[in-house]
Amino acid sequence: TLYGVILAGGSGERFWPVSSKDRPKQFLNLIGEKTMLQQTVERLVGFVKPSDIFILTGRGYGNLVREQVPEIPAANVVEEPTGRDTAAAVGLAATLLARRDPEGVMVVLPADHYIADVERFRRVLATAVAAARNGEWLVTLGITPTRPETGYGYIQRGELLRTDGSLALYRVLRFTEKPDLGRARRFLASGKYFWNSGMFVWRVDLIWALIEEYLPELAAGLKEIGAALGSAAEGPTMERIYPTLPKISIDYGVMERAKNVLVIPADFGWDDVGTWPAWARYGGTPDGQGNVIEGRGVLVESSGCVIRTANHVIGALGIRDLVIVEEEGRLLVCAKERAQEIKRLVAALKEAG
Ligand code: GDD
Ligand code: MG
Repeated sequence: TLYGVILAGGSGERFWPVSSKDRPKQFLNLIGEKTMLQQTVERLVGFVKPSDIFILTGRGYGNLVREQVPEIPAANVVEEPTGRDTAAAVGLAATLLARRDPEGVMVVLPADHYIADVERFRRVLATAVAAARNGEWLVTLGITPTRPETGYGYIQRGELLRTDGSLALYRVLRFTEKPDLGRARRFLASGKYFWNSGMFVWRVDLIWALIEEYLPELAAGLKEIGAALGSAAEGPTMERIYPTLPKISIDYGVMERAKNVLVIPADFGWDDVGTWPAWARYGGTPDGQGNVIEGRGVLVESSGCVIRTANHVIGALGIRDLVIVEEEGRLLVCAKERAQEIKRLVAALKEAG
């Protein structure tokens, strides 16, 4: 059977003032009518049965998930007692699935990415699932890089294994999570690297075996949780063990070390939409001066700005490369090239009360 595992544990602070602790990015409709989570689930419809889709999220977000995607059975929405990063979340999903179907294939998807061409995404996914079926390969979906981004993982392609229609499957020589700028530049220039999209396809028993091999402490904790599943001890064991699990991402923990990795170049218009300027690439049409305005904003002799307003009129004159976002009595004004750092502002705001 094919399973969907959606990682919806992010806090998404970089979309302040629209995102908040109550409503991180995956629960917002930043692009289009539906929220990022709803779009993620929708992409799987017809591919994976709703009863085979699992959503892992942080404590306190379970009901919001159930509200937004009522087609997913309530029991498939799992709240982690505390966030222990993606290796633990993926491991927990593998633990749940191992009991029912160890030879099942799981598709791991982040809940908050934008994909332009859903048809092509489904084609790539079908090829990835077919490649993962024999339990030999960890399959990644690679994106052709366009800039030396240091916030992504890089996948160096090796020999071509085979092709499937217009899609190619390469062996991976090396997976490098979040390189420094120098290495990112070299990777980009070589033309032999892809970005890791954060979407993975693999068999339950394979990822479990690799977690045991590379992250034995995590595996030991998950085994205790697994042994208690379905019994009266399930809840208390989860509360006791999960917060003690090693905190590491699946990228550092498994992908950088694994030898049997495949990459499928997957150019379906992908963006992880991590900042306001990234949102502006889809959120509206730029005017002649490169300003993107959503809501009621009037700019005079201004250029390169990102403006979004919910209730108020924003007027500006003679400004350049600023992000201005208004939402429910909160106003962000930020230099565009520093939009990555909004987490710092959110921390300062919290301190200020
Ligand atoms: N359930 C759950 N629990 N989900 C989590 C947790 C957790 O503890 N931590 C992160 N997630 C979710 C996030 O919400 C996001 O959807 C996904 O897992 C990836 O986590 P990020 O924290 O956003 O990772 P990243 O952006 O630093 O890096 C990853 O994604 C890049 C592409 O966007 C890596 O896989 C990179 O290699 C990749 O390039
Ligand atoms: Mg991310």
